[in-house]
Amino acid sequence: MSQPTIESILHEGRVFNPPAAFSQQAYIKSLEEYQQLFDRAKANPTKFWEDLATKELHWFEKWHTVLDWQPPFAKWFDGGKINISYNCLDRHLTTWRKNKAALIWEGEPGDSRTLTYAQLHREVCQFANVLKHLGVQKGDVVGIYMPMIPEAAIAMLACARIGAAHTVVFGGFSAEALRDRLIDGKATAVITADGGWRKDAIVPLKDQVDKALADGVVPTVKNVLVVERTKQGVHMESGRDHWWHELQKQASADCPAEPMNSEDLLFVLYTSGSTGKPKGVVHTTGGYNLYTHMTTKWVFDIQDTDVYWCTADVGWITGHSYIVYGPLSNGATTLMYEGAPRASNPGCFWDVIEKYGVTVFYTAPTAIRAFIKMGEEHPNARDLSSLRLLGTVGEPINPEAWMWYHRVIGGERCPIVDTWWQTETGGHMITSLPGAVPTKPGSATFPFPGILADVVDLDGNSVGTNEGGYLVVRHPWPGMMRTVFGDDDRFRRTYWEHIAPVDGQYLYFAGDGARRDEDGYFWIMGRVDDVINVSGHRLGTMEIESALVSHPAVAEAAVVGKPDELKGEEIVAFVTLEGTAAPNDDLVKALKQHVVGEIGALARPAEIRFSDALPKTRSGKIMRRLLRNLASGQEVSGDTSTLEDRSVLDKLREGS
Ligand code: WTA
Repeated sequence: MSQPTIESILHEGRVFNPPAAFSQQAYIKSLEEYQQLFDRAKANPTKFWEDLATKELHWFEKWHTVLDWQPPFAKWFDGGKINISYNCLDRHLTTWRKNKAALIWEGEPGDSRTLTYAQLHREVCQFANVLKHLGVQKGDVVGIYMPMIPEAAIAMLACARIGAAHTVVFGGFSAEALRDRLIDGKATAVITADGGWRKDAIVPLKDQVDKALADGVVPTVKNVLVVERTKQGVHMESGRDHWWHELQKQASADCPAEPMNSEDLLFVLYTSGSTGKPKGVVHTTGGYNLYTHMTTKWVFDIQDTDVYWCTADVGWITGHSYIVYGPLSNGATTLMYEGAPRASNPGCFWDVIEKYGVTVFYTAPTAIRAFIKMGEEHPNARDLSSLRLLGTVGEPINPEAWMWYHRVIGGERCPIVDTWWQTETGGHMITSLPGAVPTKPGSATFPFPGILADVVDLDGNSVGTNEGGYLVVRHPWPGMMRTVFGDDDRFRRTYWEHIAPVDGQYLYFAGDGARRDEDGYFWIMGRVDDVINVSGHRLGTMEIESALVSHPAVAEAAVVGKPDELKGEEIVAFVTLEGTAAPNDDLVKALKQHVVGEIGALARPAEIRFSDALPKTRSGKIMRRLLRNLASGQEVSGDTSTLEDRSVLDKLREGS
């Protein structure tokens, strides 16, 4: 199994129509209905979004301007007053949903908890008061470094409730990576746990926070709140560290949601790009609320009877938009699972589906490929008949994996939504609507209504049918990122100038290649920049190179991706050493560990290759294309005439 290639998918002729029974009860019931919605949105995007914002969300005060577009800076519903925590909680309390399950949680060791909307609201209000009491204010940034437990969602909603922005850092990131993010965000508090369960072991989150904050390098952080989860005993620094449960107990449950400006900061989420350090992607309140609400409603076709489960971690955008905000804004039941499939429990996902009668299931192609390897017997031994809709996200899904998902998990009756989107886009951009759009295995199908996506060349001209090009968006949308935290210039350079604006027309481009087939279906071809996608996680080659070079033995490093059956891509690092250092197995181990320490286990190189020199152009640029060929054991292809020293290539080839 491999990533879809143009050859494999050009021959993909299978088409799956939405099952009639599904379409009948869906919000969007036919291709014609989708087309009408799409055309209406295209003809007048502002009116389209304005109508939905009026109908679907609660506003304390109405906006004065629907869209203020000063390319590349957008303001949506400016002047409007809104609170996303109000939309996710309070407004459901005056309906029958008050006592409906809002959050179902299953812990890795088998403990579980269900919170109704009324209970979740109470917990959020109390914790919001805890934050206020500690001096956290509207406009502050709060770091969240948590396992997958209800308190992670409660913390996010509590921040939103009082107008503090959260910056969630995935619990798999190292203390170093956490520190960088807290410094960049100028965080005033950190919310964490003593530890989290991960594959039958404890991740010592609080120890990592202590390391990140050591020596006063993050002076802005005044308070650390600690959930007691694993009870293994942690250091508590007096005056700085507080137990969640102790403060929560004393806090009042009365905390009205703060009316926020639509364009007030909701959160910052760091993600990797092709240059420099991870950047803080900025999302604001009103537009993000509307966009995640609408995509959850139409793409997952969320109904009140659904038990919806997204397997992502809240540390990623998928967890933000589709575990917490989108589902809760819709009054849905969202399930959160702390565990991950592991040798001791390869059927755990299917147990969760059976136990709770999950109806909508959203996961990543890398997980599906891992399940294929583990064998059909695990899902086959469970009752998965409650499922009615499946989704995927994170990387292109190869048609074989799609077919397996359809057959073994979906019992050939569940539509599959393949959702293309990014941290930057806030929500789904190209995806089928399950009751309306016939699917082709491996294609994300069509843009969401209101999204004007296109495939273009470097001059911004649309390319022809089945011609590869850059995937772009031609009109702003409510869920789009507003800027890079603290760096408007980087925002402009990274996303809006790669394809030069023509006649004042700005195109959003965030690094993927795509093509459209003869039926107008989009096929995502993967990143065309120096971003590697390992198990659906984005990593910049530059970040990993910087981590390697910070080791005293390393003179220079170049990192490339190599196709991998399970993970999509694997990290291969080419390294030249400082004069005295000797290439050996111990050094390989040490360098891998060094990268883990600098970034986290997700960035551990699969392979490190030593070399005397790296292939460079005469102007000194590393020719990664050649390294990619070498890493994947292919013949070096294409032009090598710009190489400064051809013998470097021969040596690297011999060494491989
Ligand atoms: C890739 C995750 C193909 C893509 C939501 C994108 C996909 C990057 C798909 C964003 C998909 C995500 N098909 N590729 N359905 N979904 N990608 O920011 O390369 O972690 O640019 O957001 O993942 O990753 P991010």
